[in-house]
Amino acid sequence: MMIKIINLHKSFGQNKVLQGVNLEIEKGETLVIIGQSGSGKSVLIKHMIGIVKPDEGEIFVDGIEVTSLKEEQLHEVSRKFGMLFQAAALFDSLTVAQNVSFGLERYTDFSKERIQGLVEESLDKVGLRGVEDLMPYELSGGMKKRVGLARAIAYQPEIILYDEPSTGIDPIRADAINDLINMMKKELKVTSVVITHDVVSAYKVADRIAMLYGGKIIELGSPEDIRNSKNPVVQQFIHGRAEGPIENW
Ligand SMILES: Nc1ncnc2c1ncn2[C@@H]1O[C@H](COP(=O)(O)OP(=O)(O)O)[C@@H](O)[C@H]1O
Ligand SMILES: [Mg+2]
Repeated sequence: MMIKIINLHKSFGQNKVLQGVNLEIEKGETLVIIGQSGSGKSVLIKHMIGIVKPDEGEIFVDGIEVTSLKEEQLHEVSRKFGMLFQAAALFDSLTVAQNVSFGLERYTDFSKERIQGLVEESLDKVGLRGVEDLMPYELSGGMKKRVGLARAIAYQPEIILYDEPSTGIDPIRADAINDLINMMKKELKVTSVVITHDVVSAYKVADRIAMLYGGKIIELGSPEDIRNSKNPVVQQFIHGRAEGPIENW
């Protein structure tokens, strides 16, 4: 077991976002979390890295309970995670290599040579070579995503969190991200948590899919299980229908 979430509750004022989330994520699996915008997917993964604290509940990451950790202990745990967010958010004034090495320079005492080695290796793994000295403005949107992913894996994380990694890019590049997610799993044997509202992408990368709705995980299973779910909310979501039990205003 890599991540275990027990009875997680989180409200912002009157907005009850998480209302008893229970979820276990196995070592080495790719778990995809689907759900509408605003359903609390990002809030849920922010709890895993400790940047949001719950009102109630516990989260174990590799056996360590993280919700009660202090800053410096949390830092140790957060090094297990690599993250790729929707906006790859590269630093415009830094080269590709400097972007990838940023966290390593800042948070490790690795030698220059070791860092350079990790940078090259990470860029190589995401299929980028010879771009070390380019500036972000010289890269296409898809390449920027790859650099963002290289930065996430440079740390050699055990878990990679992908928060809507393909939102805002065209379908072909989005599919290339699916391939990358699958490749990272295979090559790095990482545990992956992928947030998406793209059902096709979910089917393509998931070992298991969890659907978040009404503050809870209302369905959890293989892509096949989700496809065959009898839950009308799940059926409405995966078919993208306006009509159904989900309120859409
Ligand atoms: N820091 C915050 N303060 C107040 N409300 C927040 C905060 N972060 C998220 N929310 C609210 O929590 C809900 C879930 O947000 P989020 O997890 O970002 O949804 P999504 O499923 O689209 O990722 C939204 O209603 C959002 O406005
Ligand atoms: Mg989100």
